[in-house]
Amino acid sequence: MKIRRAKDYADMSRKAANIISAQIILKPCARIGLATGSTPIGAYQQLIDWYRKDDLDFAEVVTYNLDEYRGLAHDDPQSYHYFMRKNLFDHVNIDLANTHVPDGSNLDAEAACAEYDAMVKAEGYMDLQLLGIGNNGHIGFNEPDEVFSKGTHCVDLTESTIQANSRLFDRPEDVPRQAYTMGVQTIMHARSILVIANGDAKAQAVYDMCFGPVTPRVPASILQLHTNCTVIADEAALALCPL
Ligand code: F6R
Repeated sequence: MKIRRAKDYADMSRKAANIISAQIILKPCARIGLATGSTPIGAYQQLIDWYRKDDLDFAEVVTYNLDEYRGLAHDDPQSYHYFMRKNLFDHVNIDLANTHVPDGSNLDAEAACAEYDAMVKAEGYMDLQLLGIGNNGHIGFNEPDEVFSKGTHCVDLTESTIQANSRLFDRPEDVPRQAYTMGVQTIMHARSILVIANGDAKAQAVYDMCFGPVTPRVPASILQLHTNCTVIADEAALALCPL
């Protein structure tokens, strides 16, 4: 695990965008795993900026998002489908047919997850997987558990995640209670992984991910076992790390 210190959110975002951009330049048809949430928005803005300056071409890029709330239509403003269009896809020349997000509108969890898993596997997994990290150490929606999850599956969100995500909804009771997420095993199949984190609320999770025991109680801790994982975090998120 390589840990890179960023000065602040803007620096973290630019460093992350540099790695994503390098991947696309080296392999224009790269398979890139994407995350939603607050953390990657700055990196997506930087990628859009470079696209507008003609420095980046998404024409052949293929993307797979980590997760989606169960029960939300694709055009629901709270859905991750909507988030990705608003924050990245609608502003670059990516072919929407090459973008994939688990189908939260399909309430048949088993079918929706099996279909997504089959697609990710058929692609040969991700060249680069971008991850944020939850305050409780979750990656995707893989919450602390007794075992590490494998493929795409339906999860019950923990109270801590519902609480953290409620800032994005009008009322806490509007936060969906379930989500479809890529499993930890699927994430670990990526050839390279980039984790980004900022802010002091993430300090404990970042410490546990990088220096704690590898345990499904902190799903991100398994990334210590990946051979090509880079963490880019700002000063506040690295505050507890002995670096
Ligand atoms: C979302 C995802 C989640 C977030 C995590 C951090 O696709 O994979 O694991 O990365 O909840 O969220 P933010 O960035 O909002 O702090």
